[in-house]
Amino acid sequence: MTTRRDFLGYSAAAALAAAAPLGARADEPRQMMTRAIPGTGEALAVVGLGNAKPFGAGDSALTGQLLDILLQRGGGFVDTSGRGRFTVGQLMREKQAHEQLFLGTNVAGGTPQALRAEIEAIRQAQGGGALDLVFSREPSDLLARSDEYQKLKQDGLTRYVGVARSNEQFYPPIMELMRAGAVDFIQINYSMLEPGAADEILPLAQEQNVAVIINRPFVNGRYFPRVSGHELPEWAAEFDCTSWAQFSLKFILAHPAVNCVITETANPRHAIDNLGAGSGRLPDEATRRRMQNLIQEMA
Ligand SMILES: NC(=O)c1ccc[n+]([C@@H]2O[C@H](COP(=O)([O-])OP(=O)(O)OC[C@H]3O[C@@H](n4cnc5c(N)ncnc54)[C@H](OP(=O)(O)O)[C@@H]3O)[C@@H](O)[C@H]2O)c1
Repeated sequence: MTTRRDFLGYSAAAALAAAAPLGARADEPRQMMTRAIPGTGEALAVVGLGNAKPFGAGDSALTGQLLDILLQRGGGFVDTSGRGRFTVGQLMREKQAHEQLFLGTNVAGGTPQALRAEIEAIRQAQGGGALDLVFSREPSDLLARSDEYQKLKQDGLTRYVGVARSNEQFYPPIMELMRAGAVDFIQINYSMLEPGAADEILPLAQEQNVAVIINRPFVNGRYFPRVSGHELPEWAAEFDCTSWAQFSLKFILAHPAVNCVITETANPRHAIDNLGAGSGRLPDEATRRRMQNLIQEMA
């Protein structure tokens, strides 16, 4: 089985074959940055995959290609929900990539029995063992049932518990969860076009030692029409940025509260581009302000 420590050695022939036609050089070193999960110190690679449409469609060929690209580049985090949890879980088992991959599993919840049955079915798909991270989408429900979710950890069913949302209206109950010590992870939206999380919730995550996964880095695609037709500024090279996608991702990753940013894509070329944001330099605060001004001027 591949271990997390061994992951740079993962670049198996299949992974290289999958990525090579898309422009990757087999001998090119691709060291993705990692950040420690507060509380445990476990290293997590900084760019991951969102729950892409091929996962939910059960498209094992394309999902497998996306996972190979992630693995080859030293990535780890994959967000999964619905049927995608089974598509990705089964592929993780087939690739024996449990140690490198770190799956966020969104659960529907329901009664305590239904929650455990749901988790059990996903564990079976993955080949047993604890899930990495169970996400609830219902902050108030999670707060009310905090003991039940913590017991999942004690019983070895999941290693971490978190809450996942993508809208500012959920920040207050998510902050309540963090203050109550009920979550190890939060997943929220943050980007140059949706910068509100920087006001309160990201600083609170740092204060409370909660790990942060960022979603909607491209506002579900609406970022791209905004930058379309504009040249990437020359100064983007100062922080090793080679595309507009990386421009957004590196802005996000430069926030000190952020552990990992996830992007949704069904396009392997886009996945390669996005994962490239996880290596090289990041913008400093002054540069981040310049980036934000530039994007605002494009409105
Ligand atoms: N729990 C929640 O409430 C919640 C809510 C929203 C999102 N999420 C999570 O967050 C993930 C990402 O957020 P999101 O769904 O808002 O998507 P996003 O990553 O902000 O945007 C996805 C869109 O950008 C395009 N794209 C991606 N990379 C690109 C690139 N390099 N160049 C050009 N276009 C690119 C994709 O099209 P292509 O497929 O053509 O690349 C897609 O249309 C989701 O997959 C999900 O896991 C969670």
